[in-house]
Amino acid sequence: MGWGMRNRLSKIICPEDGKTVMLAVDHGYFLGPTTGLENLGKTVIPLLPYADTLMLTRGALRYYIPPESDIPIVLRVSGGTSILNKNLLHEGIITSMEEAIRLNAVGVAFSILVGAEFERDTILAFTQVVDEAERYGIPVVAVTAVGREMTKDAKYLSLASRMAAELGARIVKTYYCEEFEKVVETCPVPVVIAGGKKIPEKDALEMTYNAIQAGAVGVDMGRNIFQSESPVAMIKAVRAVVHDNFTADEAYQLFLEEKKKEEGS
Ligand code: R5P
Repeated sequence: MGWGMRNRLSKIICPEDGKTVMLAVDHGYFLGPTTGLENLGKTVIPLLPYADTLMLTRGALRYYIPPESDIPIVLRVSGGTSILNKNLLHEGIITSMEEAIRLNAVGVAFSILVGAEFERDTILAFTQVVDEAERYGIPVVAVTAVGREMTKDAKYLSLASRMAAELGARIVKTYYCEEFEKVVETCPVPVVIAGGKKIPEKDALEMTYNAIQAGAVGVDMGRNIFQSESPVAMIKAVRAVVHDNFTADEAYQLFLEEKKKEEGS
């Protein structure tokens, strides 16, 4: 692995503990003004000190994040359909590698739709992105998206995650499931979990804790942070689980304390 690739990976996964809190705010590429991100900058800028990387689209980066920011950027480079389209899962390349380099990204993220009607298109586009990204030492984060008809179980997520790694992903982002250790054990590259739909803070912290125990290197979490009643308190609590070995209960206590502080300030 070349110096550039190693350097960029070290901006995504902390070399000190091999863990990461990736903050995902790329939802607008198919959802538009998602709840909590109507003014993306207002929500996200206070969270940056507690995130290891920020995952978003080029437009969101340009319009909402000051270029002076030192947060490492993972750029979403797949998309092409909206929530209104019945073929939501038919994604292709939406941002070139040249643009990723111009925006000083440390990584790019691409969704593959294993098992969906258009899986072949998404997988071939993914491998094209991997070839281009590897040429410049840029790691590709594979997002194993799940179609409405697919079950998020260890069998499916192991298949999708292992495929992503074998096809060239340097990091795999997937969903937490029962027997998650099977997904991690059969995937030769680091695995992070998405948060999914907003659930109570305590449950999201429990899921994070279980994922870390099962071998995940961290989270690439969005809605369970930015749609929390206290996003700063929540990212601090998630961070405590990922980096500081907090249990879910300890982290939830931290969330409540930090939330109280926020409300008092
Ligand atoms: C979905 O494809 C997007 O890439 C999101 O970034 C991802 O789902 C993580 O966000 P959340 O934690 O809200 O699921």
